[in-house]
Amino acid sequence: MQSYIRHRRLRASEQIRRMVREHHVHVEDLIYPIFVVEGENIKQEVPSMPEVYHYSLDRLHEEMDELVRLGISSVIIFGVPAEKDERGSSADDEQGIVQKAIRYIKEKYPSIYVIADTCLCQYTSHGHCGIVENGVIVNDASLTRLVSTAVSQARAGADMIAPSNMMDGFVYEIRKGLDEAGFSHIPIMSYAVKYASSFYGPFRDAAHSTPQFGDRRTYQMDPANVREAMREAASDVAEGADMLIVKPGLPYLDVMVRVRERFDLPVVAYNVSGEYSMVKAAALNGWIDEKQVVTESMLAFKRAGADLIITYHAKDLARWLKGGE
Ligand code: PBG
Repeated sequence: MQSYIRHRRLRASEQIRRMVREHHVHVEDLIYPIFVVEGENIKQEVPSMPEVYHYSLDRLHEEMDELVRLGISSVIIFGVPAEKDERGSSADDEQGIVQKAIRYIKEKYPSIYVIADTCLCQYTSHGHCGIVENGVIVNDASLTRLVSTAVSQARAGADMIAPSNMMDGFVYEIRKGLDEAGFSHIPIMSYAVKYASSFYGPFRDAAHSTPQFGDRRTYQMDPANVREAMREAASDVAEGADMLIVKPGLPYLDVMVRVRERFDLPVVAYNVSGEYSMVKAAALNGWIDEKQVVTESMLAFKRAGADLIITYHAKDLARWLKGGE
């Protein structure tokens, strides 16, 4: 070797750094989660998620107008119903809060791509993602409810179904149900690899979906496992998933890399509520530079192979990408 290897030549100025930059975050990569609630004149901040709000339908335009202004073109909808019962009856109700919100958005904001989260936990009195019999979350009876929920969301106009319930066979059954109801053109973004994570805490405040007994460990994955994640993703691919979500995001980047390498479907990172709230809390205390930390985190997802990112930071990112503060 005649001299040192000089890596710093390609870091010397912003111009050259831009030229050799390997990854970028675009506003098209971002999917913004929205919480809709029943009632009127509601815009209420979620206590553990600063700057994330519950909206009633009559005020949802405030959020939607802002998203359009910022160039965000995709949302994922979560409903918080007024009534909950054992079987989550409001989940597949044509007049349910999510169905109404989907119809409203597709009518007033046709340019926005609407993804429906398909789960029962917000709708069941016990807060589990499936049907409970004798204290057990039963798999196959839950699937029937989830299929009719997905079909009702598609009927309301959802562009894509995102089942997050982690029952076995959910992609197979939902695909079949959608096809039979005339929705073979609607894709499924599967929560393929979803861990039983404490990082969902703030979301459960937001969605009022904390399990009333036990926890989700009989259906969500053990954080210790990665080979199991490959089996989960493989079964969803075989059953007809169109995209694969890895969730949570930052603590599971190793899993995302493995999913990216093994499968050729688009991969989606879910940068979950707890990840968001930690950053917000530190930023509000002045302990970190929010813009830098969030941008760096998004680049981590891109590096790990994510095509899309579901994130509560989407509006801030869109603002920063436009050059705003
Ligand atoms: C519903 C669902 C959850 C999240 C998305 N869909 C919560 C859970 O499984 O308990 C979490 C999202 C977040 O924390 O941002 N099953």
